[in-house]
Amino acid sequence: MHLLGIFLSQAFIIVAYAQTSLIIRDYFVYKKVTRVVGFSCGDVEDDFLTMKLLTDAGMSTAIKPAGFQINVLRYLDTTRTLGVFLDMRCPNQNVSGIFDDASAYRMFDYSYNWLILGSNMSRSLQSLNDSVFSIVTDFAILLPDPKSGYVLYDVYNHCKMRGGILNVTRLGTWREDNGLAIILTDSKIIRRRDYHGLRAKSAGIVLHRPPHMSLVDYLEGEGLEVMDNWPKFGYTLLSHVSDIFNFTMDLIEINHWEKNDSNGPLMSTLKRDEADLGYYPSILRIERYGDARVIFPQWPTRTCFMFRTIPAMKMKPWIILKPFAADTWYMIVVIVVITVLILSFILKLEHVSEYGYSISALITVGALCQQGFPSITDQSASRIALIQITVFGLLVFNYYSAAIVSARLNEPLHKMNDSLYSLAHSKMQLAAEKNIFFDFLLRNQRPDVQYFKHVWNAIPESKRFIPIEDGVEKIKGGDFAFHADPDDVYPSIEQAFDRQMICQLTEVHLLQPSELGLWSNLKSHFHEISKIALLKISTSGLRRREIRRRSARRPYCPNDEIFVSSVTIYEAAPILFLLLFGMIISLIIFGIEQLVFYTMHSKRVRGIKNHMKNETKDKTLSKDKSTLIPPKASNLFRKILMTRR
Ligand SMILES: *[C@@H]1O[C@H](CO)[C@@H](O)[C@H](O)[C@H]1NC(C)=O
Ligand SMILES: *[C@@H]1O[C@H](CO)[C@@H](O)[C@H](O)[C@H]1NC(C)=O
Ligand SMILES: *[C@@H]1O[C@H](CO)[C@@H](O)[C@H](O)[C@H]1NC(C)=O
Ligand SMILES: *[C@@H]1O[C@H](CO)[C@@H](O)[C@H](O)[C@H]1NC(C)=O
Ligand SMILES: *[C@@H]1O[C@H](CO)[C@@H](O)[C@H](O)[C@H]1NC(C)=O
Ligand SMILES: *[C@@H]1O[C@H](CO)[C@@H](O)[C@H](O)[C@H]1NC(C)=O
Ligand SMILES: *[C@@H]1O[C@H](CO)[C@@H](O)[C@H](O)[C@H]1NC(C)=O
Repeated sequence: MHLLGIFLSQAFIIVAYAQTSLIIRDYFVYKKVTRVVGFSCGDVEDDFLTMKLLTDAGMSTAIKPAGFQINVLRYLDTTRTLGVFLDMRCPNQNVSGIFDDASAYRMFDYSYNWLILGSNMSRSLQSLNDSVFSIVTDFAILLPDPKSGYVLYDVYNHCKMRGGILNVTRLGTWREDNGLAIILTDSKIIRRRDYHGLRAKSAGIVLHRPPHMSLVDYLEGEGLEVMDNWPKFGYTLLSHVSDIFNFTMDLIEINHWEKNDSNGPLMSTLKRDEADLGYYPSILRIERYGDARVIFPQWPTRTCFMFRTIPAMKMKPWIILKPFAADTWYMIVVIVVITVLILSFILKLEHVSEYGYSISALITVGALCQQGFPSITDQSASRIALIQITVFGLLVFNYYSAAIVSARLNEPLHKMNDSLYSLAHSKMQLAAEKNIFFDFLLRNQRPDVQYFKHVWNAIPESKRFIPIEDGVEKIKGGDFAFHADPDDVYPSIEQAFDRQMICQLTEVHLLQPSELGLWSNLKSHFHEISKIALLKISTSGLRRREIRRRSARRPYCPNDEIFVSSVTIYEAAPILFLLLFGMIISLIIFGIEQLVFYTMHSKRVRGIKNHMKNETKDKTLSKDKSTLIPPKASNLFRKILMTRR
């Protein structure tokens, strides 16, 4: 009787163990894993059966019997999804040791499908370590059930660290006759999406909050002030995330950056697990990946030095010669000389005795410059010559003025290229908006940033940072570059600058246009859902709307509008100098002539003066007996004057 009892109980145990082997096989086939490792109770036959069943189902298998000290990390390390079963029905299984190690190496995520074989719910839950359980944890407990064979329970915890409670839900059943029946078929994220108001912690850097305002009001509020766009944007997105998953956020405000803190206060807060999420978008930099995890790049931004490009303050002495190339000028001069020669030759032929080379030259230059000239004779040869000179002069003149006009219309503003090298070489005065991350930007390893850093470090500490209003005023003054986040500074620029100044605004980037990320802590209980929700927010267009709301409009420069830009003194100077030069030369010649006349014809000169007086009184120029100007010239002069009228 006793023997029979022993035999029966043994048979029962064997049957039961055979059944767990089947369940393990069925469960992992359902989970579609290709590799399974297990912690068994050490029954050789039973392990052999499990192995055989799993291998037949196409899964590679390893099983560790209880009672051995093992290295959990080495045993469970994987790059693919791994099924893990753990038999905790035997007393010598080091359950809490395995769980604690698995927690330490964060083995309750997508990569692991756990199946726990227990005998009693309360005992199974006791030894559990759910400190790193999260919404993606795949953890099932199998318990015998007198009614329906076996019952599977789905176990997870949203976030124990923030007061989440263990949720144990019936996942399905296993019966010998109809096998595995799973009732929770929704995906994990969907069926666990309600966080029931769990209080997550979210940290961010906020610098300009007025003291009387609460942080939430400040981040949510429209407000008139345009500062702190980054945290406001990040907070709005994360509050959408928390709405989708029904959790709440406790906000942490950070407002200073320790000198010895290389990756920033937000990263260290996340690293210390004092916060789960960061609502302050931060730069993606490789050295930060050890402190926190990037959820998504979300916030497009850039920072730059801004200054005005003021047109050159230098005189361009050769500008009046520029419209024609040198050989064109040579050809014009040659043609003018030839014309003068031919004209004087024609005049000689026509026996106009008063005319010589100088008169021919005067006529030609007068025609070229679109000024008047006398009608010389009635002969056709000289007329043709005159027409030819006039047409030539017209063409040359038109080309010249067209070249000047087009040069003025197309005159480009020679803006600096977007290079920190150029900025460093420009010897411009530099300053920056007081930004918490400015030093972090300078720590970038790009060679141009490193080069620029030396220039920046040469600026006295007290002059490096100035308020935005002063910065904008100084940009306006010129020869001053101010570093700022365009979203902060554009509104002030739009108010303070006129159109021409806006068009002259030049930018040299320190932080190249890039997308800043929202970050979560490394344990990342909220990483997965934030990722899903942010993706949803992006695709639904909410993100774009927020970006548009939080970023400032670039001041508009009407590029296509034609300005009447005045000719500056620097452009006009060469012409004025030419005029001045001509006047001086004339004065000198006049002086020499006077001298010659005074010394040689001093008496006559007196008489001439009287005559001149009488002539001006008479207001006629028709007196023929002028002795001041030689007869030839005076005739011509008179004729020119006649034709001009
Ligand atoms: C259980 O495992 C842990 C970690 O692997 C180890 O420190 C501990 O000594 C083990 N306890 C027993 C009783 O084997
Ligand atoms: C759970 O595991 C973690 C990491 O190994 C450990 O720090 C913690 O103390 C464990 N908790 C319990 C309740 O054993
Ligand atoms: C489960 O185990 C605990 C202690 O290990 C025991 O007190 C309890 O009675 C057991 N429950 C059942 C239903 O067997
Ligand atoms: C437990 O999880 C299930 C889904 O797995 C869910 O329907 C239920 O509301 C959760 N219960 C609690 C108290 O969180
Ligand atoms: C969100 O959680 C709160 C607190 O548990 C609960 O009262 C509320 O019904 C939940 N909302 C949704 C939409 O599930
Ligand atoms: C920075 O220095 C402060 C004291 O000056 C110290 O408390 C803190 O731990 C240091 N932080 C780091 C990251 O070294
Ligand atoms: C000029 O006119 C005055 C009177 O107005 C006369 O006395 C003088 O002789 C005139 N001189 C000559 C050179 O004609």
